[in-house]
Amino acid sequence: MTPKVIIPGGSGFLGSSLAAHFANLGWEVVILSRSIKPDKRLVRFVHWDGRTVGSWAAELEGSTAVINLAGRSVACLDNEINRKAILESRVSAVDAITAALNTCSNPPKILIQASTLALYGNKGEVVCTEESPHADDFFAEVTKAWENAFFKAQYKSNPRLVAFRIGFILGAKGGALAPLSLLTRLFLGGTTGSGKQYISWAHINDFCRMCQWAIQTDSARGQYNACAPTPVTNKVFMKQLRQALNRPWSPPAPAWAVTLISKTVMRVNPELALKGRACLPERLLKEGFSFNYTQLLETFKDLLITQKNV
Ligand SMILES: NC(=O)c1ccc[n+]([C@@H]2O[C@H](COP(=O)([O-])OP(=O)(O)OC[C@H]3O[C@@H](n4cnc5c(N)ncnc54)[C@H](OP(=O)(O)O)[C@@H]3O)[C@@H](O)[C@H]2O)c1
Repeated sequence: MTPKVIIPGGSGFLGSSLAAHFANLGWEVVILSRSIKPDKRLVRFVHWDGRTVGSWAAELEGSTAVINLAGRSVACLDNEINRKAILESRVSAVDAITAALNTCSNPPKILIQASTLALYGNKGEVVCTEESPHADDFFAEVTKAWENAFFKAQYKSNPRLVAFRIGFILGAKGGALAPLSLLTRLFLGGTTGSGKQYISWAHINDFCRMCQWAIQTDSARGQYNACAPTPVTNKVFMKQLRQALNRPWSPPAPAWAVTLISKTVMRVNPELALKGRACLPERLLKEGFSFNYTQLLETFKDLLITQKNV
């Protein structure tokens, strides 16, 4: 039987790549979206509201896996309205999926849930594994609520539960790499702020492979850091990006300027650029997942040069 994967919130950056990845394997893919988009080969869009059980629940019946990515983007200004939407959209989506799953007579045997390395907070040079203490800032609190909704839900069946604490995913078709590489091409790819904040990155291809690995590895369960084993500081990250794009040294962007531009021009929370953490995918490595991309420069070259030309 053809495996079938359901991706709530799959219309965005990670979901589009995951959908293409599984469709290329010949799997049936269903994306749950609040808006309806034209279907692609082996990828169907089904409407849901991200909060309540609806006719979409029938798609779960007999499916292989759910990979839930739904949540209001964190790339927005830090204010009470956005904070509420960031938290509620995530917890409501998990609750709706649990309720839908509990109506199935043949539910999927594995649920994969997006989570984030922001759980560990702004950690300077401290290296974080899955065992590291959790922070108590806003993004960490959202992540705790998100994971709690997922792991502490009452499931009528006994599905395998996997949460990926996702790092900074690098892809050619979305995410933060496109604007960063545009700035770098314009000779504005200098160090951001102190440049000491760590970036725990992963190639989008490895992220898709992690999800496939979790589905196909019966022993995989619990929380996993989803990043390459080679985090770098922002200073190194920007230097290697300039190298990949053949750009010379560029002037650093001081924290005050990043804060000003983030708040007034880009309308995003400057913390996203100024804070970070060095994480290791300890559990993935111990349990046999092998990364295709562990070198950042090679990753940049693949995404920005090779994939651009195919
Ligand atoms: N990209 C990364 O590097 C990264 C890192 C750490 C964690 N994550 C997490 O991984 C997930 C996927 O990331 P992404 O980069 O693919 O994000 P994305 O491009 O913003 O996609 C997320 C999807 O969630 C849905 N969504 C937005 N607001 C919603 C709401 N209020 N209620 C229900 N659904 C809503 C949207 O789908 P529709 O509009 O079609 O409904 C959207 O396409 C996110 O939850 C993100 O926080 C991503």
